[in-house]
Amino acid sequence: MKFNIIDKNSFAACEAVFLTVIDNFEIINKYFNKKDCETIKTLLSDELLSNDEPKIKEIILTKNKRPIKLVLGTLPKLFEVQDLLKLGFLYGEYIKSNKMNTSSFVMIEDTLGKKNYTEFTKLLLEGTGYGLYSFNTYKSKPEFEYKNVQINIYTRIKRDNEEISSMLNEVEKIISSIYVARDLINTPANELTPEIFCQVAQKLNLDKCTITIIKDEDLKKEGLNLIYTVGAGSKNRPALLKIYYKGNSKSNNHIAIVGKGVTFDSGGTNLKPTGHIETMKTDMAGAATALGIAKLLNELNKKINVSFYIPLVENTIGYSAYRPGDIIKSKSGKTVEVLNTDAEGRLILADALSVAVEEKPDTIIDLATLTGACVVALGSHCAAFFANDDELAESIMESSEYTGEDVWMLPLYKDYKKRIKSKIADLQNISTRKGEAGTIIGALFLNEFVENTPWVHLDIAGTAFIEEKHPFYGEGASGFGIRLLYDFLDNIN
Ligand code: BES
Ligand code: ZN
Ligand code: ZN
Repeated sequence: MKFNIIDKNSFAACEAVFLTVIDNFEIINKYFNKKDCETIKTLLSDELLSNDEPKIKEIILTKNKRPIKLVLGTLPKLFEVQDLLKLGFLYGEYIKSNKMNTSSFVMIEDTLGKKNYTEFTKLLLEGTGYGLYSFNTYKSKPEFEYKNVQINIYTRIKRDNEEISSMLNEVEKIISSIYVARDLINTPANELTPEIFCQVAQKLNLDKCTITIIKDEDLKKEGLNLIYTVGAGSKNRPALLKIYYKGNSKSNNHIAIVGKGVTFDSGGTNLKPTGHIETMKTDMAGAATALGIAKLLNELNKKINVSFYIPLVENTIGYSAYRPGDIIKSKSGKTVEVLNTDAEGRLILADALSVAVEEKPDTIIDLATLTGACVVALGSHCAAFFANDDELAESIMESSEYTGEDVWMLPLYKDYKKRIKSKIADLQNISTRKGEAGTIIGALFLNEFVENTPWVHLDIAGTAFIEEKHPFYGEGASGFGIRLLYDFLDNIN
């Protein structure tokens, strides 16, 4: 998605123009003649305005004797952040289904009020980015090259052009990072192994980042036995990918982001049954989200330091795979009894968290498709989150409200800690009471490895890949978390 600012208020012939309106007809009067305005008003009042949901409607008008296709978008009167994303999404889908390489978008300063128009437009266009997406890497003939769509932005506010253009630049970069993450998550496991994931990261040409990779036997040398062991069963060898973005060399402050990268989760020796295994190519969504954020910070030259720790494994069955009952010494020194090889995410994350902790970050954030229990509890529209620090939790909730990426906080309930104490090792990777509080247990396990570092854990098992069409993420990989964490990082300092 590319933007092109057009500093005037007339459109070229035959262009499809997108206009947002609530119940304010003033803007329409400014752009169209009386007769057209009447037509628009009738259409709006009859059909669109009676609805609580964002909607679009296509009509054809004549302006200066030339036809103009007009796409009207309406919002509920008391609209929320997610309504803007939903409306933008519909516009994106409209462009996609009409295979339009260019489209025009009228800045909505008049309709939505001067105060927030940049923010509102940003959300609308982010929604448009979501709506344009489709996964077509494996189509021999893709129906539409959505990545190259150009949107002409008509605006009448000249003096604010700098604000507008920097917002548009930000949206372009946000959307392209989301596309990188969505493509990776949608890519099947035969095409995306730990090694290929590392190559993808290297090919992104992150010129302001340093990348290091610890792989295969070297993991053992570094004491990263959990990562090594979970990946031991596959010929696609495990790795820990580290990406250091240093946007502020004057400061030692930094944030650590850890992303679960299981390129395929068969469940391992505790093999997943049919019905649960089909989508497990997406079990690296945390890793893809982390990489998307690295790309975004790099492209926008953000003045912060963020280090990424991405453990990558394929969790397979097989003669060299780990077994239930195995005891493994983690990087932290704590021993872990594996009672279920399908609770593998927490194992690889444990070692990655220990590496992060050693580098003394101010905050650690991890993202993981960690538990099926999270999907049961919160469904696919909302992620679970945990924090060991109230201020940090507050910031995450604020970013969630601002970006419309939904999260819900669950407690790190201390009394459940005993359920992951092993009889014969320091910890066990599943609870002694199966079927209870699975998402909290997963988080409590990770909590054992963060020491005193302020930490947030996001369980994105439900939100990362949405089979039923979501009103603004659409279908399949969502890219959930990129806008949320980018906003969080952007608020630092
Ligand atoms: N990758 C899964 C969690 C998952 C489930 C992600 C559904 C996305 C959709 C994870 O590794 C897993 O299998 N967890 C187990 C843990 C259990 C054995 C304690 C689960 O949730 O069943
Ligand atoms: Zn699993
Ligand atoms: Zn998993």
